[in-house]
Amino acid sequence: MAATHGMPTRPTAPHSGARPPAAPAGPPLPRDAAEAISALVERGAGLHLDPAKTDFIAFRVGRRLRELGLADFHAYLARLEADASGAELRHLVEALTTHTTSFFREAHQYAWLDETGLDLLAETARGPLRVWSAAASIGAELWSTAILLAERAARGQGPTRWELLGTDVSARVLARAERAVYTEEEIAGLSPARRACYLMRARRFTDAGGRPLWRVVPELRAQARFARANLQDLSELPDFAADVVFLRNVLIYFAPAAQARVVEGVARRLRPGGILFTGHAEAIGPHPALAPLRPSIYRKV
Ligand SMILES: C[S@@+](CC[C@H](N)C(=O)[O-])C[C@H]1O[C@@H](n2cnc3c(N)ncnc32)[C@H](O)[C@@H]1O
Repeated sequence: MAATHGMPTRPTAPHSGARPPAAPAGPPLPRDAAEAISALVERGAGLHLDPAKTDFIAFRVGRRLRELGLADFHAYLARLEADASGAELRHLVEALTTHTTSFFREAHQYAWLDETGLDLLAETARGPLRVWSAAASIGAELWSTAILLAERAARGQGPTRWELLGTDVSARVLARAERAVYTEEEIAGLSPARRACYLMRARRFTDAGGRPLWRVVPELRAQARFARANLQDLSELPDFAADVVFLRNVLIYFAPAAQARVVEGVARRLRPGGILFTGHAEAIGPHPALAPLRPSIYRKV
């Protein structure tokens, strides 16, 4: 799909990775409650949900109501309001985010990084290569980068040192990213050769049929760290200057003002000469600090 100009357009059914059933079980979602929930997740995480998509919201948030034993959505809103800690808002954001990802997703970007990007970065490199997966989901994006760098090292190509950071607003997916245990379907993007070198059978972790799952090898696992960070407010994330940032398939879920805020925050944490990858439908409009190199690939000037 060709890159669009200007900020990305939002999908028609935001965060509807799993299609909700036509008639979700559970209490009905009144329009005013849908609007209140949409406003809360927009303020909390920048997520732009169309309150008219009541089936989607009712399906995702309905599960949370059942967990809490609440009878209806107004009771849930009262619970949210009473929770000064922000913990329930984080649950709500978890419920309404979509975490679809895969290993070597948009493989052409990894190929470009391997064939061109890392040489460009080497011209102005200082210290270890710093890679930031800024909406890391379950870690496939960051572990793919770790594999790419390990393959280069095995061929005698630089960089020789790197630091990998994965952040996401969802603590649940970050726990999975850190554990680095995957099903056969989740590693579909990995060739047999890559599986043999960089994954192992995790006997401690099995699927429903008792078969061992796959796990990233400890040598790679030791190279990455993960932290919760909300792209709308990166103030709690320590300052750093990344060489490579993956900001992919997350801008599409934000309203334009929130997209612009996120791009600013990310651009500030990219070192001059650093590379930014976005998703293929997430072109960034003209930006004084980000020069487009190719569709969905930018370099900080
Ligand atoms: C569709 S996944 C994309 C994963 C990966 N970047 C990729 O392209 O395969 C979107 C991820 O963005 C995260 N996300 C949504 N809003 C966020 C926010 N405000 N701050 C940080 N992460 C956010 C979600 O939790 C989810 O894991």
